[in-house]
Amino acid sequence: MTKEKEIMPVDKIIGEIILPGDKSISHRAVILASIAKGRTRIKNSLDCDDCRNTIRAFRDMDIRIDEAEGEVIIEGRGLKGLKQPPHPINVGESGTSMRLLAGVISGQDFSATLEGSGGLNKRPMKRITEPLSMMGVDIKASDGGFPPIVINGGRIKPITYKLPVASAQVKSAILLAGLYADGITCVEENIRSRDHTERALEYFGARVTVDGSKVSVRGIKELSARSVDVPGDMSSAAFFIAAATLAKGSKLKINGVGINPTRFGFINVLLRMGADIEVLNKVDGFEPMADIVVLGSRTRGIVIERHMIPGLIDELPAIFVVAALSKGKTIIRGAEELRVKETDRILSMQTNLKALGARMDILGDDIVIEGVSALKGAALKSFGDHRTCMASVVAALAAGSASVIDETECVNKSFPEFFRALENIAS
Ligand code: S3P
Repeated sequence: MTKEKEIMPVDKIIGEIILPGDKSISHRAVILASIAKGRTRIKNSLDCDDCRNTIRAFRDMDIRIDEAEGEVIIEGRGLKGLKQPPHPINVGESGTSMRLLAGVISGQDFSATLEGSGGLNKRPMKRITEPLSMMGVDIKASDGGFPPIVINGGRIKPITYKLPVASAQVKSAILLAGLYADGITCVEENIRSRDHTERALEYFGARVTVDGSKVSVRGIKELSARSVDVPGDMSSAAFFIAAATLAKGSKLKINGVGINPTRFGFINVLLRMGADIEVLNKVDGFEPMADIVVLGSRTRGIVIERHMIPGLIDELPAIFVVAALSKGKTIIRGAEELRVKETDRILSMQTNLKALGARMDILGDDIVIEGVSALKGAALKSFGDHRTCMASVVAALAAGSASVIDETECVNKSFPEFFRALENIAS
């Protein structure tokens, strides 16, 4: 893959595709399989940089993980079956790996260092070191609360903790550590974030209770290995759904996409904006999935309130693009968590959308996008951020002339096949 890419406008998006597995679920499947007892086979696990970092981390802790015929096969050795890694564990740029692994390592009888690369070294880790310290773990981030994190695992106390920001990664770190505690660990959220950890924990045999905004897990002796089938990633589907919505005459079918209600905010928002989307052939599993059919349509601006943000946080860049070409104004409230993703996604998307001729302003805590009737090609930057890159490419597809985007290898973080999948459906 060349780094810089020219993006030509498309007339329409036509075809049928299957997307790679969901990134969040793939991480959790590898983590729980590694600390369960027995062999787990994971089907449709996402093969991307971030998930490879989680796999490498468990191999560093002496877990046997094989890959054959499209499956990841893990020989779990039980909750305390990990071995002390011979060197610091490097999780690359994967925030999910770092935060969830911190929870698991907290319960081990050894010490380990979790380090990151690139942008991850500027992402906040106090949000996990604080609650894990309250659980009695000796855990320290470096000055300013950034990676690396040094953890001296050991005895864990159950806690009840109210999350200051809705974050599935923080909730998951606490619940995973809670597996090792003697008693019940409870996490309370103001707004529910994605619940993949709760579902996966239950699936592997843990006792999880959900009571409104409170999630509790009981400390347990062992989890048991289970086969896992990972649904397609809604966050990757979002780019194609946005692209198909924006191009008149489009008809796109995406098969087997995860439709977990805590990840469904993007579809709900697009439907409210007037998009033509149908959800067909629902299948209920430990994670529900369905096929999604999208037709090109005209959309209108709406207000997206703060309480909706956790259910569509990773899809916001794609929503900005649809809003930029919708009739009227879209207002998005309370999306400040976007500033601490792989890059400040409010700034990165604003820079690219403005270059393309869109109108996006920040007014206090609100993002205000005033729809325009057309975009023009421009020189775009990915800022090294996979989702900024893919969303900006979608905007460029809907522009009236060619664009260039400077660096596209960052898509490997979550969706290495992005450009190939796009070529198959763009005409
Ligand atoms: C994720 C949770 C979200 C999301 C990230 C993946 C997860 O982050 O943005 O891409 O797998 O738990 P936060 O927990 O920081 O909101």
